[in-house]
Amino acid sequence: MNFEFYNPTKMVFGAGVLSRLGEIVGQYGKKALIVTGGGSVKRSGTFAKAVESLAKAGITYAECSGVEPNPRITSVTRGAKIAREEGCDVIIALGGGSTMDASKVMAAAVLYDGDPWNLIGHGQADWHIPTKALPIITVPTLAATGSEMNGGAVISNAETKVKSFVKTSALFPKVALVDSELTLTVPKDQTAYGVCDIITHVMEGYFNGIDGTPIQDRWAEGVIINAMEYGRKAVADGSDLEARTQVQWASIVGLNGWVQAGVNTLSPMHMIEHALSAHHDITHGAGLAIVGPAWMRFAAKHRPQRFAQFAERVFGFSTEGKDDLELGLKAIDAYEEFLRNIGCPTHLSEVGIGDDQFEQYAKDAALVAHDNEGRLLARPAMTMDDIVGVLRSAL
Ligand code: NZQ
Ligand code: ZN
Repeated sequence: MNFEFYNPTKMVFGAGVLSRLGEIVGQYGKKALIVTGGGSVKRSGTFAKAVESLAKAGITYAECSGVEPNPRITSVTRGAKIAREEGCDVIIALGGGSTMDASKVMAAAVLYDGDPWNLIGHGQADWHIPTKALPIITVPTLAATGSEMNGGAVISNAETKVKSFVKTSALFPKVALVDSELTLTVPKDQTAYGVCDIITHVMEGYFNGIDGTPIQDRWAEGVIINAMEYGRKAVADGSDLEARTQVQWASIVGLNGWVQAGVNTLSPMHMIEHALSAHHDITHGAGLAIVGPAWMRFAAKHRPQRFAQFAERVFGFSTEGKDDLELGLKAIDAYEEFLRNIGCPTHLSEVGIGDDQFEQYAKDAALVAHDNEGRLLARPAMTMDDIVGVLRSAL
């Protein structure tokens, strides 16, 4: 294992910590741009509480509302313009992963004179990885992406149908203010999709990483087991604060870099899903519930031992007298059943996607992360035919 680990984001975690927003933001600026999504934070009263806390600390604010799920580059441009015009010196992301991702790129775009799309990593000639950004304070209202404590952002370009990401040190939030009370209003479906996203984040490294990472394996298994246990409870009873808290903690641990340290993770399930949501605007976690089991059945044939370990340790299946692949496939069935039980779709037909553009999705999935032969980075690396095969099996 040879690796570097870096995560400078300070975390303040606990039910009720939203009341500390003003005090925390005051350490970084005097006028905030508050970025929000489609209105959930207004309906839940979260926005009002945030503003009250800012007022107590003497922080003024401007607002950028209306960031859409699968956030678009146009929202980033709009937010950066408001921040500039209003003279904001700190950005508050108050919402789900989409709001947080858009806020991060806005924070960089404020200090960049070129086209904000250049800031997103997609390999074009004028690509500019952000090196500076206004201070970002994340206040997540949905447990899923882990964006609150990582340096990544996923942004879509509606014109070109490209969904791509940027991941760099400058985009780490200064503080993640994590108040699980804010997630109590998340509807059942989004709660379930979030749980699938959390699990998939650690699965990517678990199934696609290098060998010889026993601590990371146990860690990933722990996140999966807990996300399943508390995810079930949070879906069954949205007002269960303990379940919400544990799911939110899992979402952060799942993608703040700890579980991935030294694993050399690759993310084929994410790359394929991003291609689907770029074309069809489906919810990321729902897309992962469809792609995940289908991809796992493909990968299990190449690495049956790994999937047998997953079966034994996550589902407690006995290995006795069982062939590794058989055991692995049984665990994938159990995982798919879990997803269905919490209300996730597991087939493309359920979200209205047919097979007419499979070749395009395969191309798009590999566009962002491919090897010298153009294959999607994964274990094993996937040809276009492999990706199309996985999609076909998910119909
Ligand atoms: O827009 P509002 O009105 O806020 O409603 C949102 C939205 O409709 C709603 N919601 C959020 N908090 C709520 C709530 N509804 C009621 N009560 C609350 N407390 O939930 C809906 C989905 O929100 P969104 O932010 O889109 O969901 P999520 O957190 O799953 O974020 C998905 C985005 O993050 C990207 C995805 O690709 C997708 O674009 N990802 C970002 C990553 C990262 N930065 O590290 C990694 C992930 O793998 C992922 O790719
Ligand atoms: Zn994800």
